Amino acid sequence: MPIEKVAVVGCGLMGSGIAQVAAQSGCQVTVREVSQPLLDKGLQSIEKNLQRLVDKGTLAAAERDQVRARLRGTTNLEDLKDSDLVIEAIIEQLPAKRELWTALDKICPKPTIFASNTSSLSITEMAMFTQRPDRFLGLHFFNPVPVMKLVEVIRTIATDPKVDEAAVALAARFGKTPVRTTDRTGFIVNRLLVPYLLDAVRALEEGVGSIEDIDNSMKLGCGHPMGPLTLLDFVGHDTTYYIANIMFDEFKDRRFAPPPLLKRMVAMGWNGRKAGRGFYDYSDPAKPKPLQFT
Ligand code: 3HC
Repeated sequence: MPIEKVAVVGCGLMGSGIAQVAAQSGCQVTVREVSQPLLDKGLQSIEKNLQRLVDKGTLAAAERDQVRARLRGTTNLEDLKDSDLVIEAIIEQLPAKRELWTALDKICPKPTIFASNTSSLSITEMAMFTQRPDRFLGLHFFNPVPVMKLVEVIRTIATDPKVDEAAVALAARFGKTPVRTTDRTGFIVNRLLVPYLLDAVRALEEGVGSIEDIDNSMKLGCGHPMGPLTLLDFVGHDTTYYIANIMFDEFKDRRFAPPPLLKRMVAMGWNGRKAGRGFYDYSDPAKPKPLQFT
């Protein structure tokens, strides 16, 4: 089941990263966005990342040119019809995913494998939007995609083991370490990460420590690259809140219940780094300043 032609739907933070690593691995990549300005923005971010690698000397300029040549952008879904694999990385809303998968199921021939990069929605439910649940699975990447080494390969009870195998091989070709998991909300990483992040907010709410002290504790005491509140700002409070609610709905377990402070920060739009404000103020992105919450 060779995979050479990869389509990526969505060229935001995750989609652009996936398209980049796929093109760097030697695959022919078509990345699709809904509008030309969004597509241009995503392609520019890939270009910036590749240039950074060239500047650092980890990618030769000639290789960068080859990666560019393997990558094309489109706003037309029909352009994905020749793909061996389609990876979806669009907005985390089931109705939008339903519309996309229903359309792609008509456009792409039967052998094309479909994969979703969802972090929280049900792969099984999405597979049932198509006539090919046996060729449908999850491929969950981590932010920033070019840096993070893990890919969760998520099978449903209907996924053909050969499709699972092909996805595992592809993730390895992308330079990632694949882990196999089943379609349970949160998979492995978010199942463990989300309660940890929510607990950090609870610790802050209870006055266990300041923002900086909570972050430094986990950085310096446990060797994490980022403290949990910095990581929440990095992932986005809205994203984490959304995932936590879906997980709470699935497991009905308090560990996944978003704490009141997080809910209120989301209501304020203080969603972290991308909003310029979360647990830290990012007016100077190079020097985030912890904020006070009373
Ligand atoms: N794109 C590409 N490369 C990037 C990058 C980006 N957005 N951000 C950083 N890098 C590269 C830098 O160029 C640098 O490369 P080099 O070592 O070759 O010079 C390297 O990553 C380290 O970057 P920095 O020196 O600027 O900064 P740090 O050492 O602090 O590393 C970090 C930044 C890699 C983001 C690190 O802090 C980290 O690993 N943080 C944790 C990230 C994490 O946990 N991600 C998972 C989030 S959960 C998720 O995605 C799941 C979802 O479902 C919610």
